[in-house]
Amino acid sequence: MTRIPIKSARDIELMREACQATAQILDAVGDIIKPGITTEDINTFVHRMTIELGASPSTLNYKGYPKSVCTSVNDVICHGVPSQFVTLQAGDIINVDCTSYKNGFHGDSSRMYFVGGAKACSAEARKLVEITYEAMQAGIREVAPGKHIGDIGAAIQEFIKSTKLGYGIVREYTGHGVGREFHEPPQVVHVGRRGQGDVMKPGMTFTIEPMINAGSPKTVLSKLDGWTVRTADGSLSAQWEHTVLVTPDGVELLTEGRKAPF
Ligand code: MF3
Ligand code: CO
Ligand code: CO
Repeated sequence: MTRIPIKSARDIELMREACQATAQILDAVGDIIKPGITTEDINTFVHRMTIELGASPSTLNYKGYPKSVCTSVNDVICHGVPSQFVTLQAGDIINVDCTSYKNGFHGDSSRMYFVGGAKACSAEARKLVEITYEAMQAGIREVAPGKHIGDIGAAIQEFIKSTKLGYGIVREYTGHGVGREFHEPPQVVHVGRRGQGDVMKPGMTFTIEPMINAGSPKTVLSKLDGWTVRTADGSLSAQWEHTVLVTPDGVELLTEGRKAPF
């Protein structure tokens, strides 16, 4: 049995600010990503901006995680650890996953960026990034009171299947409740069947964050750093993440930025 926290109107007001800090940071990250910078440069930028916004980076020291953001390049699925030795090159795709803690609440979101602009990236990479965004949107469209958490994963799985691109949906890492805790109930899997899982109620807040591989869904965890997760077959991987609120009539994207990417 899972107990899913319900946020009050006041909680939501406070949490919205944490989520908007995250959205502002990810907007600004879009302006600094370019060939030649390192993922450590992204970490430094995110760390400083988080502090400037009166927030703190949720990932820093979380279960021993050493950095203020996750930076996952090309075949890295998630939890890429920023490093001065990882320099971005034109044509790379990168996910930046940022969580800010402010007012006693966490706001968790991630986006994909094309290094050197979309035209510098392969058609395969562009397709994967866009389809993964659409997969997240398909999940978000399922959010409303009375619907089941499982409807989200079902919609994502149905959408990916309908593309006939043979993409793999990662199973080992999932969306999650987010609020006073970085990770709280419910678990939000990105595959499944409709009608499964808890019933959504107004005031629930959770993430939807599908990780889609261009090839096999299989993952490999780095033995070197204990964090970095890569595709087993070396294929590209993409991910988008929003923190969402179940409202009386549907859904609100708490981590919405200044403009939609697609
Ligand atoms: N932000 C990630 C998520 O979406 C979690 C990162 S945990 C870390 O759930 F320790 F790897 F930073
Ligand atoms: Co998350
Ligand atoms: Co995240």
